Amino acid sequence: MRTRSAGGEAALPAGEEKTRRVRSMFDAIAPRYDLVNRVMTLGLDQGWRRSTVAALGLPAGSVVLDLACGTGDLSSLARRAGYRTLGADLSWGMLSANHRGTPLVQCDAAHLPVVAGGVDGLVCGYGLRNFTDLPGSLAEAARVLRPGGRIALLEVAAPPSGALRAGHRLWFEHVVPVLGGVLSDRDAYRYLPRSTAYLPDEAGLRRLLLEAGFSGVGRRLLSGGLSQLLVGTRSGLPGAGGRGSP
Ligand SMILES: C[S@@+](CC[C@H](N)C(=O)[O-])C[C@H]1O[C@@H](n2cnc3c(N)ncnc32)[C@H](O)[C@@H]1O
Repeated sequence: MRTRSAGGEAALPAGEEKTRRVRSMFDAIAPRYDLVNRVMTLGLDQGWRRSTVAALGLPAGSVVLDLACGTGDLSSLARRAGYRTLGADLSWGMLSANHRGTPLVQCDAAHLPVVAGGVDGLVCGYGLRNFTDLPGSLAEAARVLRPGGRIALLEVAAPPSGALRAGHRLWFEHVVPVLGGVLSDRDAYRYLPRSTAYLPDEAGLRRLLLEAGFSGVGRRLLSGGLSQLLVGTRSGLPGAGGRGSP
């Protein structure tokens, strides 16, 4: 028997079931993913991705991993900013729709086939709440970043208060599922607002980043809180690397 939430919705999956369902959901929506993104954010999403790439602040030629790269919007912008990029994603469908010229690998964020300290920067757009093992994935991000390397994480958020908060809620919970249903896959875009329940609050995200091995952790809201951007610097001495190292 399926468990149900108080609202009568099926409970959100966890563990291997979550990995399986997230992968097949992104496989299914990959062909129209970019289109739906532009429509449901009214074109604001690329500006948020540009802010994410700019937040790295690394020298041109630095190697940047686009974690949960999907169809490759972030890596494409990172390349335009002068970085060398590679992309990693769980979904073969999303990777197959990624034609940006970046080397790609299919893997789980919690197990990256990248040597310790192998990248200078890491960006991740709207991936965190989809990860099955968020603490493990952030520890893995820290492992692959060199000491002094930079991380920039873009995620959904909610405006703190007022009319914008109410409007955002209406849009995200009621309009997006309808738009997604018309343009792509109704179930996937009904799941989208529900998946925010996986995302820790600001204090929780900061704590996870500190525990993973990042310092100078900062967070800023974009477009009044429609998205959030978290940044940090990989702590540790040159050559330290390794999961759980300081
Ligand atoms: C909302 S999409 C974001 C795609 C892209 N970063 C962007 O900014 O549009 C989330 C992506 O996370 C990927 N993903 C979900 N769980 C993952 C995991 N455990 N490891 C790696 N990628 C994962 C999905 O396949 C999907 O491509």
